[in-house]
Amino acid sequence: MQLNFSGLRALVTGAGKGIGRDTVKALHASGARVVAVSRTNADLVSLSKECPGIEPVCVDLGDWGATEKALGDVGPVDLLVNNAAVALMRPFLEVTKEDFDRSFSVNLRAVFQVSQIVARGMINRGVPGSIVNVSSMVAHVPFPSLAAYSSTKGAMTTLTKSMALELGPYKIRVNSVNPTVVLTAMGQKVSADPEFSRKLKERHPLKKFAEVEDVVNSILFLLSDRSASTSGSETVCVDLADWEATEQALRGVGPVDLLVNNAAVAFLQPFLEVTKEAYDMSFSVNLRAVIQVSQIVARGLIARGAPGVIVNVSSQASQRGLTNHSVYCSTKGALDILTKVMAVELGPHKIRVNAVNPTVVMTPMGQAAWSDPQKAKAMLDRIPLGRFAEMENVVDTIPFLLSDHSSMTTGSTVPVDGGFLAT
Ligand SMILES: NC(=O)c1ccc[n+]([C@@H]2O[C@H](COP(=O)([O-])OP(=O)(O)OC[C@H]3O[C@@H](n4cnc5c(N)ncnc54)[C@H](OP(=O)(O)O)[C@@H]3O)[C@@H](O)[C@H]2O)c1
Repeated sequence: MQLNFSGLRALVTGAGKGIGRDTVKALHASGARVVAVSRTNADLVSLSKECPGIEPVCVDLGDWGATEKALGDVGPVDLLVNNAAVALMRPFLEVTKEDFDRSFSVNLRAVFQVSQIVARGMINRGVPGSIVNVSSMVAHVPFPSLAAYSSTKGAMTTLTKSMALELGPYKIRVNSVNPTVVLTAMGQKVSADPEFSRKLKERHPLKKFAEVEDVVNSILFLLSDRSASTSGSETVCVDLADWEATEQALRGVGPVDLLVNNAAVAFLQPFLEVTKEAYDMSFSVNLRAVIQVSQIVARGLIARGAPGVIVNVSSQASQRGLTNHSVYCSTKGALDILTKVMAVELGPHKIRVNAVNPTVVMTPMGQAAWSDPQKAKAMLDRIPLGRFAEMENVVDTIPFLLSDHSSMTTGSTVPVDGGFLAT
């Protein structure tokens, strides 16, 4: 992934092997100065040969005192990747105190400790920063014999939101990535049973596990503060609320590889005053047209045997109740679940489907709803980063989801919300 991190200093934990090692290499290649933290010195020696100039730190992150000593004076860090973890496999009934303590001290307590050190430094210097916690699919989906590990990752999901809430006002962004199985040493261990592995893979709409590169790309994207570029366009003028007109306008549209379902309307009405017209128009444009246009495009992709990507522009309103937005919220809630069902059904055809969920953006739609300073303040007070999104924040996320850099991401709803949904 071509990103420029020159001038920035990054710290990656668990840098000796697997995902952490490749993250260091990618950050180094993108111009960052990198502090590589791991436990086995030989790994750090070989990594330093591959990436001259990195700063290796050999420490057991499960040891609070040793970590304080090794990293307490680490100096300025702009980007932090909390990646180190252990996956101790044991049936739930046999989990020991030692398993539990080791899992939580490395996978979670060290995230508290290293993030505190790094975030305090950012706050003292008055600079923005970005932290990515490497979590796992098992934060949401149970895996046999991984009760302790899965619990650490479930806790990490909530910790990530808490950190986003508290660090947002200092312009420190905090996100997690939740990969499926990646066949690193850890991934091979947890998926060693061939029958289990086969069934698990079958459950994935894309019918495959992730590559290390997929995870590294997501980490780098979340660390970055990136701006987009555009190329030429063909125009089609049609009212998407009109099924027949849309059918006619897009029937002959020809091959489309990437689709962004962005059109939407928002009528603000108190729930008790919602009209049939507002309801019908909202669902026709915000949801029915997504189904119709996506059917046209996906049928074309399947007929050509080509892979494709669809991005649905949803909203933070899909997941929170907002006053006077009952119809709009409903359309976006429906769009989120539609995104997941499309991902499940279209995945086997190599068509990925994701949603982006922005907070308020001051487009004409945003202005209509949020120009009143009192209303805006009440919303801004709920956003950890303390601001509405700029257009480019949304526009930056869409090309990532459309590109091969997110080739293992499907069925997800990606917030671009300044942390609103973490609250
Ligand atoms: N692989 C997967 O299937 C998968 C799926 C979802 C999420 N993840 C997550 O992705 C991250 C990286 O996993 P991976 O597959 O790359 O694992 P890996 O191949 O086992 O590498 C883990 C790295 O972390 C280091 N580490 C572990 N404990 C440490 C400690 N106490 N102090 C310092 N360093 C320590 C290891 O060093 P030593 O070898 O020297 O101990 C190693 O360099 C983890 O957070 C994992 O939970 C992995």
